[in-house]
Amino acid sequence: MFTSDCLGNDNGMLTIGGIRVDDLVKEYSTPLYVLDEDTVRNNIRNFKKSLDENYEKGMVLYASKALNCLELCRIANDEGIGLDCVSAGEIYTALTAGFPAERIYFHGNNKTEDELEYAIDNNIGVIIVDNYYELDAIEEIAKQKKKTVKVMFRIKPGIDAHTHDFIRTGQIDSKFGFALENGEAYNAVKSTLDKENLKLIGLHCHIGSQIFDDQPFMEAARVMMKFYKQIKDEFSIELDQLNLGGGFAIKYLETDEHIGYDTYMKEVATIINDFCKENALKVPMILIEPGRSVVGAAGITLYKCGSIKEIKNIRNYVAIDGGMGDNPRYALYESDYEVLIANKLNEKADYKATVAGKCCESGDLIQENVVMPKPEKGDIVAVLSTGAYNYSMASNYNRIPRPAMVMVKDKKSRVIIKRETFEDLVRNDI
Ligand code: LLP
Repeated sequence: MFTSDCLGNDNGMLTIGGIRVDDLVKEYSTPLYVLDEDTVRNNIRNFKKSLDENYEKGMVLYASKALNCLELCRIANDEGIGLDCVSAGEIYTALTAGFPAERIYFHGNNKTEDELEYAIDNNIGVIIVDNYYELDAIEEIAKQKKKTVKVMFRIKPGIDAHTHDFIRTGQIDSKFGFALENGEAYNAVKSTLDKENLKLIGLHCHIGSQIFDDQPFMEAARVMMKFYKQIKDEFSIELDQLNLGGGFAIKYLETDEHIGYDTYMKEVATIINDFCKENALKVPMILIEPGRSVVGAAGITLYKCGSIKEIKNIRNYVAIDGGMGDNPRYALYESDYEVLIANKLNEKADYKATVAGKCCESGDLIQENVVMPKPEKGDIVAVLSTGAYNYSMASNYNRIPRPAMVMVKDKKSRVIIKRETFEDLVRNDI
C-alpha cells in the first residue's frame, strides 16, 4: 500500500515520519504538502555513498527544479552536495538560503542575457551551455566583466529513453543541448578552446526523467565516453568532469519496480572505468543530478474529501479541496499515483472512483480508477509520492492559494513554506 518507508499505519490512520496525518490536518488544515526530512537526507546520502563507492571522484547535484525552496537548499548545503538550478529564480533562492555559489550548476535551454549576467556576477560555479547563442553571450559578458567562466556543454547523446514523451530529452529531436550526430557538439567544443574567458571543464547529458530501465543510462555513458576520447585524440585535452544528469525512476505505485540506484551506479561505473582503462584516459569526476529520486517519495499531499458524485454505470467522482493547482501532473502526463483514504486504512477497499480536483476544468483530475474504501465528506485523502514536481509546478489557477508545506522529523512538524493568503493573490495586482 505504501510507496515509501516513511509512511505507516496507526490503527487505520496514515502516518508520515511517525506522525498521524489527522494531527497534521488539525494543526495545519488542508490541502497540505508534507515532507519527511529523514527520507530526503537518506536519499542524498545514499547517492553520495554510491558515487564514492564506484568512482574516485564524484559529486551529487540536487536537481532543485523538483522542489526548490529555502529549506531544501539549506538541506542540500548541509549535506555537502551541489545544486542544479535552471533559472535566476532558483539561483536567487539558493543564494538567499546561503548556498555557496561555486557549487551551483546553471542549466536551461534559453537562459536570458539577464540571467547569464546574474549568474556571472554572482560567481556561479559552472554554466551548462545549451546552444551557440548562449556560448557567444557568455563569452561577451565574461569579457566585459573580465572574468573566466567555467562551462560544460549539454550534449544530446541520441538515446531514446522509454518514458513519457514530454519528459524525454536525450534524442536528437529535443530542444535541449547540442547534437552529436550532426557535429554540433564537436564544433561547440572546438570553437571554445581558444576563447579566453571560457574554461571548458566537461560535458553533460540528461536523457529524461522517471526512467525505469538501466540500459539507456548505460548507453548514454558509452556515447559520452566515446566523445571524451574523440576530444582527447583530436584536441589533446582531457576534460575534468562528466555530468550524467538525473532521471532515476521512483515508486509511484506500490507495484512499480525500479532498479536500485546502486545497481545503476555500478553498471554505469563499470562502463566508464573500463573505457578509461582501455583507452588510457583519466577517469573524469562524475556528477549526477537526481531530483525526483531525492524528494519524490519523501512527500505526500493531504486533502479533505468534499462532494461525491455517483454517476450510475459511468463513474464515481470523489472531489478534493485541491487539484491541478497544487498537482498538475495527472492533467499533464496522466501520471500514476497511489491515493488513499488516510483515515480508513484498515477498511475494505471496494469502491472505484475518479479523484477530481476543484478547478473549473474537466481535466482537473488527480487519478482515475482508484479502488478505495467508500469515502465520505470530511475524510482525509492522501496522495503519495508528491514530493517532486508538485509544489514546484503549482499555480494559482482559479485564484486558489498554494498550500503550505510542512516538514516532519523526529515526530515533530514545522512549516517550511507558508500557505498563501488572499493578500498574496493580489500582491502584484494594480
Ligand atoms: N538534470 C537535468 C538537466 C534535468 O533537466 C532534470 C529534469 C534533472 C536533472 C532531474 O531529473 P529527475 O531526477 O528529477 O528525473 N515535470 C516533469 C519532470 C521534468 C524533468 C525536468 N528535468 C514531471 O513532473 O515528471
